[in-house]
Amino acid sequence: MPRFPADFVSLEAQAKEVLPWWIYNYVAGGCGDEYTQRENCDAFRHYGIMPRRFRGSQTRDLTIKLFGNNLTTPLFLCPIGVIGLCSLDLHGDLRVAEASARTGVPMMVSTLSQVPMEEIAAALGDTPGYFQLYPPKDRDLALSLIRRAEAAGFAAISITLDTWVTGWRPRDINNGSFPQLRGHCLANYFTDENFLKRLPKTLNEDLYAAAWEWANVFGDCLSWDDLKWIRQATKLPIMLKGICSPDDARRAVDYGIDALQVSNHGGRQANGGWAAIDLLEDVVKAVDLPVLFDSGVRSGTDVVKALALGATSVGIGRPYAFALAAGGVEGVVHQLKSLLAEADLLMAIDGYPTIAHLKEPGTIARKPR
Ligand SMILES: Cc1cc2nc3c(=O)[nH]c(=O)nc-3n(C[C@H](O)[C@H](O)[C@H](O)COP(=O)(O)O)c2cc1C
Repeated sequence: MPRFPADFVSLEAQAKEVLPWWIYNYVAGGCGDEYTQRENCDAFRHYGIMPRRFRGSQTRDLTIKLFGNNLTTPLFLCPIGVIGLCSLDLHGDLRVAEASARTGVPMMVSTLSQVPMEEIAAALGDTPGYFQLYPPKDRDLALSLIRRAEAAGFAAISITLDTWVTGWRPRDINNGSFPQLRGHCLANYFTDENFLKRLPKTLNEDLYAAAWEWANVFGDCLSWDDLKWIRQATKLPIMLKGICSPDDARRAVDYGIDALQVSNHGGRQANGGWAAIDLLEDVVKAVDLPVLFDSGVRSGTDVVKALALGATSVGIGRPYAFALAAGGVEGVVHQLKSLLAEADLLMAIDGYPTIAHLKEPGTIARKPR
């Protein structure tokens, strides 16, 4: 018998049994009545892949190239701010990095980690990692985080655009639960002299004051103009996470951005909007840049559909957080392999030997309802 389930619903049930209730709800929940979060998943069902025959799909190639790196899979691990707490040893960031190293699936490392980004980067082995930046209001601190990401060897920086302030999350409000305000997952700030010099007392003297200072400095509501200094600040490829409109996508090209990420933060930030997958194709058509995708991916079938709609790489969020809780490194490795196996078999049976075949016209369409 396998140790871990091969489907998302059973995996979430396992994780719910082991995670503390406030962490489970922080991960599982979303914004408002969670309509957009549900839509993110449900909308995948409206699309169908056209089965094709006689195309020699007895072997498949799921490799991709991104930022000059040859990757063995089209997946990536989305940044999850509390991933450190989803592991029983409270070092989830490092455990996920180990799974990334073992599978070759890149990890996008959140600004909000339990251990400093340098330690996570060191655990990634030969697999490229990306650093996800929440640009703080303090420009020196922002530049310092970028410098550290470069020095740590990350292959790209992803700027998250939809979270300069936290969305309305009833589960967390009802539970009085916001891990960062209890001092969790702030290691990158607590190891940065540009943050520490803002504190009137040391961390040991007053951890909660430090957490409040983090809340003050956390999110800068960027304007397009800010992309100029961000672009000048680093030679690393820059991705914009949370681009959903084709107009914004086109405009980002003018600022020398290297890739876009269609994402609505898994429905955690703004409720009432479209499912992210319904926005992907138009963004892909608007620009000649790699377009990464996340939000609502729960299966290998979803991965194939996102690729067919034009995604260069497909990210998963909550599924690997639950896999980590249920089974540590082995759980995450199992989860990633399960997604890949399902995607690979679907491509085999439906006659798509490569990702390029998936992107040909006529592969995917919205099904009549
Ligand atoms: C608990 C949790 C924490 C998250 N933390 C971050 C974060 O620190 N930075 C970020 O850019 N996105 C964060 N996200 C959003 C994910 O990167 C990703 O966009 C989303 O989870 C994808 O949707 P899915 O969970 O439906 O797969 C978080 C998501 C969850 C569930």
